[in-house]
Amino acid sequence: MEYRKMGKTGLQLSALSFGSWVTFHKQIDDKISDELMGIAYDNGVNFFDNAEVYAGGESEKMMGRVLSQKKWDRTSYTISSKAYFGWRGKQNKPNQTGLSRKHLTEACHEALERLKTDYLDLYFCHRPDKTTPIEEVVQTMNTLIQQGKILYWGTSEWSGVEIMEAHRISEKYRLIGPSVEQPQYNMFERKKVEGEFLEIFKNVGMGTTIWSPLASGLLTGKYNDGIPNDSRFTLEGYEWLRDQWVMQDKINRVQQLGAIAKVLKVSTASLCIAWCIKNPNVTTAILGATKKEQLIDNLTAVQTLSLLTPEIMEQIEGILESKPKLPEW
Ligand SMILES: NC(=O)c1ccc[n+]([C@@H]2O[C@H](COP(=O)([O-])OP(=O)(O)OC[C@H]3O[C@@H](n4cnc5c(N)ncnc54)[C@H](OP(=O)(O)O)[C@@H]3O)[C@@H](O)[C@H]2O)c1
Repeated sequence: MEYRKMGKTGLQLSALSFGSWVTFHKQIDDKISDELMGIAYDNGVNFFDNAEVYAGGESEKMMGRVLSQKKWDRTSYTISSKAYFGWRGKQNKPNQTGLSRKHLTEACHEALERLKTDYLDLYFCHRPDKTTPIEEVVQTMNTLIQQGKILYWGTSEWSGVEIMEAHRISEKYRLIGPSVEQPQYNMFERKKVEGEFLEIFKNVGMGTTIWSPLASGLLTGKYNDGIPNDSRFTLEGYEWLRDQWVMQDKINRVQQLGAIAKVLKVSTASLCIAWCIKNPNVTTAILGATKKEQLIDNLTAVQTLSLLTPEIMEQIEGILESKPKLPEW
C-alpha cells in the first residue's frame, strides 16, 4: 500500500480506503463487513469512511461493531463521519439536518456513540448549507477539534468558492480551516478535481478523499451486457443512479477501457481505480464492495498504478475524450 499526506496536513492516508455507502446494512451484514474490513486492513488500508445518513445510522453502528470486535490498535487506522443530511430520513425535524452548531455537534456525538470511538479522525460537512453562516460552521468545527472530538475537518461536494470562503473565515478568526474535500472523481466525473479545485490544491494544499472511483460499478465493465441481478443498479430506491450511469455511450467507452485492461492483464476495475490515484491531487480513493472478490480485485490498483505509462494514459484519454460513435444509417 502507498500512503499519502492529506494535503498540507501531517496525516497519512492509504491511497486506497474503504467506505460503506449503500453496502453496509442494506446489502451486506456484520459477517461480510467484518470480512471486507479485515481484507482492507490487512492490505494496508488505514481509512474507513462513513456518514450519519448511510442506512439511517445503521452503517455507522455496523462499522462500530466490526471495529470493536477487531481490536485493532486505534492509532493504526482513521475513521470518518459526515453530517448534513441527518439520519431519520423523512422524519428529520428542524435542527436534525444541516450544518448549524447544534446539528454538527449533536451529529458528532451520535457518530462517536455509533462508531464506539472517542474521536473521529475526519469529520466532513457532507454538503454545503446555504442557510447557516460559514462563520458558525468554521467555529463549530474548530471547537470540536479543541474538544478532541475530531482531529481534522473537511467538506464534501462544496464548490471551490465555498471552500475558499471557509479558509478566509478561518484565517480571519485564527481558527482551523478545512483540510480535505470529498468530491466525486472517476473517469466520467472530472470537472472539479481536474479544473475548479486546481488553484486550491496549489495555494491551500487541500487533500481529497474521492468517492465512487468506479462510477458505482459501471467502470468495472459489469454492466456492459445488461444489468446483473444482484448489482447496485437493481436496488430499489437507486434507480436514479442507474439512470445517471447506464448509457450506451458510456458503456462503449468502458468496453474500450476493457481492451486496454486486457492488454495490461488487469481487470477494468483495477485500471480505472489506478487511473484515479494516478492523479497526485487525490489523497485516497474510497473503495466500495459487496463481495470479497471485488475488494481483492480493486486493491490491485496499487500495483496497476505502475503500468500507467504516459502512452497508456494517452490511450485512456483518447477513449474518454472520443466522440460517441454515430449510428450507421
Ligand atoms: N461524500 C459523498 O457524498 C459520497 C457519495 C458516495 C460515496 N461516498 C463514499 O465513497 C465510497 C465509495 O463509493 P462507491 O461505493 O460509489 O464506489 P464505487 O467503487 O464507484 O462503487 C462500488 C460498487 O461497485 C460494485 N463493485 C465494486 N468493485 C467491483 C468489482 N471489482 N467488480 C464488480 N463490481 C464491483 C459494487 O456494487 P454491487 O456489487 O452492488 O454492484 C460496489 O459496492 C462510499 O462507500 C462512501 O464511503 C461518499
